[in-house]
Amino acid sequence: MTSTPSPTTRRRARPRRRDLLRGIPALGLGAAALAGCSQAGATTDVENVLSVSLNQAEDHPSFLALTYFGEQLAERTEGRWGARIYANEALGAQQEVMQLVSDGSVDLAVISSTQVENLSMAFRPLNLPGAFEDIEHQTAVLNDESLVGELFSSLEAERRLRVLGGFTQGSRHVYTDRGPIEGPEDLAGLKIRVQESDVFMELTRALGGSPTPMAYGEVYTALQAGVLNGAENNEVSYVTQRHYEIAPHFTLTNHLVGLDYVMANVDRIEDMDAQDQDAFAQAFTATQEEFVRLWSQETEASTEQMIDQGVEIHEPDPEAFTPLIEDVGRAFLQSPEDEALYEAVRAVAETRGGEG
Ligand code: GCU
Repeated sequence: MTSTPSPTTRRRARPRRRDLLRGIPALGLGAAALAGCSQAGATTDVENVLSVSLNQAEDHPSFLALTYFGEQLAERTEGRWGARIYANEALGAQQEVMQLVSDGSVDLAVISSTQVENLSMAFRPLNLPGAFEDIEHQTAVLNDESLVGELFSSLEAERRLRVLGGFTQGSRHVYTDRGPIEGPEDLAGLKIRVQESDVFMELTRALGGSPTPMAYGEVYTALQAGVLNGAENNEVSYVTQRHYEIAPHFTLTNHLVGLDYVMANVDRIEDMDAQDQDAFAQAFTATQEEFVRLWSQETEASTEQMIDQGVEIHEPDPEAFTPLIEDVGRAFLQSPEDEALYEAVRAVAETRGGEG
C-alpha cells in the first residue's frame, strides 16, 4: 500500500464502522479474508489476523508500534498469527470498543486509562494528576509486576479483558483558539474538551476552564464549529489530529502524565497454543520498547512541526497552574486500596529521586 499522507495535507475520510466490523474475523468473515491484504497496518500472508482498534491516525506512534507488533508476531509465530490495525476510531470510540473487546468482537484495543477507570475504579490511582512525575517514572511503575500485576489481570474473570501493558500519553497540556493563556483567569469561560472522566472534569475546572466531555474523534469538528474553544492533550495528538489548525495556542500546563492501556480479549489469546502465546508475549514486550523509542522521536518531531506551523507555544509561570492541581489527584482517592496504590506509585518516584 502507499505511504501515509502527511498530516498537513489530509483530513482523513472515515470508513463506515459497520462496514468494517463486518470484515473482522471474530464476527464471521474468517482470517483468510484479511491475511494477504497489503493495507497499511496489516500483516500479510498470515493464517490468523488479530483485529486491533485504535483511535489515532496512521502517523501516530501507537499505530506505528502496533504495526510493528503485527510484524513481530508474524515472524515469531512463523506466519500463524498477525494483526491488522484499524485506525481513526474506525471500529468506534474507546468506550464502545472496550465493550467490543470484552465480548470478543474485536481482539485488541488501545484504551485510555480514563475509560478503563470508568469500567473499574481500581485503575483510578494511575490516572490522577500527580501520580507520575514523568514518563520514566510511569515506565518504572508499569514494569513493576508487584504493583500492577494483579490490577492488570483483575478484569479477566468478569470482562474477559487482559491489560497487556501501557503506552505513555506523555505530559498533557491545554490548547486554545485564543491566547496567550498565562493563568486560570485566561481560561475562564472557555470550553475545553476533556475525556469522559470525572477526574478530567475536575482537573479542567481547577485550571480555570469549562470542561466539555467528548470522544476524541469528534474534537476536530467541534473545534471547527466553535462548540469548543480548546482541548488538552500531548504534542503528538495535537499535531496528528491537526488541532493546531483551529486552536493555535499551546500552553505548557503539564497537568498530568497520561497513560493508554493495550487491552486484549483473553479467550482470543488463549486460542493460541502455548508456543504462540509465548511468541505473542515476546512480540508485545518488543513492541513496548519500540513504542518508547517512537514516542520520544515523534514528540520531538511534533514540537518542530508546531513551530513550523506557527503555533504559539506559551510557557506559563509554574506557580500559575501547578498549585491549583496539586490537591485534585488526592481528593479522588476514595478507598484504602486506592490510597495504598497511589502511595506505592509515589514511593517509586521517591526512590528514583534518591538514586538521581
Ligand atoms: C491521547 C491518548 C488517547 C486518548 C486521547 C484523548 O491521545 O493517547 O488514548 O483517547 O488522548 O484525549 O481522548
